[in-house]
Amino acid sequence: MSTPLGGKVEDDILSLRHQLMNWLFTPLYLLLLFSIVTGYIAALQLSNQPYDLALIERARLMASRFDHADHILQPADLLPDGAAHLSFTVFDARGAVMLANASLPHPRPRDLSATGPVLRNVTLSGEKVRLLILRFDSTRREPGVHFVLAVSEPIHNRLVLGRSILGNIVIPQFIFILIAGIAVWIGLKRGFSPLERLRCALARRPVNDLSPLDEAQVPGEVRPLIHELNGLITRLKIMLEHQRRFVANAAHQLRTPFAGLRAQAELAQREPVTEPVRYALEGICEGASRCNRLVEQLLALARNEPETRNVEAMAYIDLNRVAQGLAMEWAPEAVRQGIDLGFEGAVMPIPVCADEDGLRDMISNLIDNAIRYTPPGGQVTVLTGMDGDAWLRVEDNGPGIPVDERQNVFNRFYRIAGSGKHGSGLGLAIVAEVAQRFGARIEVSESVGGGAVFVVRFPLKTARGCKEL
Ligand SMILES: Nc1ncnc2c1ncn2[C@@H]1O[C@H](COP(=O)(O)OP(=O)(O)O)[C@@H](O)[C@H]1O
Ligand SMILES: [Mg+2]
Repeated sequence: MSTPLGGKVEDDILSLRHQLMNWLFTPLYLLLLFSIVTGYIAALQLSNQPYDLALIERARLMASRFDHADHILQPADLLPDGAAHLSFTVFDARGAVMLANASLPHPRPRDLSATGPVLRNVTLSGEKVRLLILRFDSTRREPGVHFVLAVSEPIHNRLVLGRSILGNIVIPQFIFILIAGIAVWIGLKRGFSPLERLRCALARRPVNDLSPLDEAQVPGEVRPLIHELNGLITRLKIMLEHQRRFVANAAHQLRTPFAGLRAQAELAQREPVTEPVRYALEGICEGASRCNRLVEQLLALARNEPETRNVEAMAYIDLNRVAQGLAMEWAPEAVRQGIDLGFEGAVMPIPVCADEDGLRDMISNLIDNAIRYTPPGGQVTVLTGMDGDAWLRVEDNGPGIPVDERQNVFNRFYRIAGSGKHGSGLGLAIVAEVAQRFGARIEVSESVGGGAVFVVRFPLKTARGCKEL
């Protein structure tokens, strides 16, 4: 049996899992972001270093060539091999351009006061470049005079190197987080599996199973919750038991006074009384009978409630014999109501795992209903048989039960309005309780004559706790 609770628990587990994932991965993603930013800065610095060293080396070579040249140089003569991409300008001490292959900005005074080469990124004519300023003293050309060399190099190659370093840092981190995510997801799924098992066990439980949940099977964090839940189940069980006992005791206590009332009223009816008194006495008799029946039904319900029955008391009983006996017992009432009550049993005994009182309560209520709700002149047939299961069938040609009421009629105190008959609404509730205890299924349908058909199917192998034949 599945309950609507099942889906809800699953949803909650899911959301709990998602919450945990969120709490774990949001900081992890923030960390990853932080690491990418710092990694990017570090990668750029790392990629600058070798290029800067090479640039300084080349600038020194260029400065030395400028100083040692005896003749007037062409700009291309100053560039070392493989350095054609460099732009440079040589300034003299006053800032006049001595030699250049491009017009680089004049160095700032701050750059000139530095002892070593100065390096920084600047944008020249819309292009980002690395600019080096090198102040050098002449030893050959004009000893004691200093010159300034400005060299610029496009930063494109540095960026390519920087990105490749970044890629080498970030991609493994991404893979690491992905694997961590999968591992955490699997871990959570496994961690939640005891709860999922508990949910399945709960969903499979019969409605009347109020046994405690197994605390040992759940994780320590959930154990106190299950412990409390078990406490609640126990209290509920005790309360239900009190309630059941109260109803049974009350019904039992009412039995004798109602019987007495009826006997007294019947006695009084035999006396010569006036017409209004006789009418009143008939009313009292009728009322006492109805009360008596209600009390009997309440007692039958209390008797058949699953908690009150010991499953071990069940034994194999011949369904055929019990049904036939009851059909005979109900025959006089059927005659009184003008109903043709028939029995069509199987030739062989039909063993069902049941207890005789419960079985009698069940069949009696089905026959009672069929006779009660079928108008005079109608037919009621009780049949038994065996195909895959053992079955009992009670059918009539009365008004039948509308399709949308077929589930409701098994509820306690539920009656279909307008039947014009007296009743308590407990008969089919008793039938349902008994059937559940026997592991039997009840089907309600419509007979050929438009009446009601009740079929009770007993599984052949219920044998759990059933005494052998
Ligand atoms: N054989 C039947 N034919 C028509 N209606 C029925 C039949 N059996 C049960 N019902 C309907 O189902 C309702 C519930 O039945 P039950 O639980 O036995 O209570 P009660 O007979 O005391 O009213 C009845 O009120 C009746 O309307
Ligand atoms: Mg009834």
